[in-house]
Amino acid sequence: MTTALGHPTQDEAGKPQRILVINAKGGCGKTTIATNLAAALHAQSAHTLVVDFDPQGSASEWLQLRAASPQGEIPALSALRHEVSVSRCWLLPLPPGTQWVIMDAPAALHGVELQKLVHEADILIIPVMPSPIDIEAMVHFIKDLFFIAKVRQQSIPMAIIANRVKTNTIIFRTLQKFLQALRIPVIAVLRDSQDYIHAFEQGLALVDLPAGVNEREAIQWRHILEWVKSRSNV
Ligand SMILES: Nc1ncnc2c1ncn2[C@@H]1O[C@H](COP(=O)(O)OP(=O)(O)OP(=O)(O)O)[C@@H](O)[C@H]1O
Ligand SMILES: [Mg+2]
Repeated sequence: MTTALGHPTQDEAGKPQRILVINAKGGCGKTTIATNLAAALHAQSAHTLVVDFDPQGSASEWLQLRAASPQGEIPALSALRHEVSVSRCWLLPLPPGTQWVIMDAPAALHGVELQKLVHEADILIIPVMPSPIDIEAMVHFIKDLFFIAKVRQQSIPMAIIANRVKTNTIIFRTLQKFLQALRIPVIAVLRDSQDYIHAFEQGLALVDLPAGVNEREAIQWRHILEWVKSRSNV
């Protein structure tokens, strides 16, 4: 295995699969979903690495807490710490054997930087919250994504996760209508739950909670893992 991130393609077996969690809208749950996804893969003994592209460094904070937790450290690459741009980050060395690279994107990413990051990813996950502002922002963001040839040509699997959802609300039904029209799969509906906040504060994730504590969310995370694996070569 190469020590550089390089440019692995999906048909190159054994190359790390790079999942980009992205949405230009701030606060929609990118870091929460990126860290939960990393922990869910790690819990299955998959060699997982997190890349924190956000100058806020929230994922890096979580990773530090995680390192001190009984669940154990998840390796990280911090674009910020290395003071490199999105594109140069890919030249940093990866731990040998890395299977999954989870990339936490910053908010307000657009134009060339968005293009560069999408270009380096194998799978896109877009968190969306059910609020009028978030729905409008999502529509603009998806439009921006479709300016990228790789997305337009459907050369990259892409899915939406509805986040912080209160089901049985009118706004959630509005979100569902928009999502149906977009024809991008919705692979999970995550509830607005304090469990995410409490887990994050301890460097943990939903999958780390004792079995049965939040079974409804655990099922959603199983769906996410199934989808991600079905779209990868790992
Ligand atoms: N499903 C959820 N239930 C409850 N709280 C949540 C959930 N998802 C995210 N949050 C909370 O919402 C806030 C924003 O989430 P998060 O930081 O993951 O968003 P983000 O998209 O990474 O934000 P930014 O654009 O600033 O990087 C955080 O306080 C987080 O704990
Ligand atoms: Mg974030």
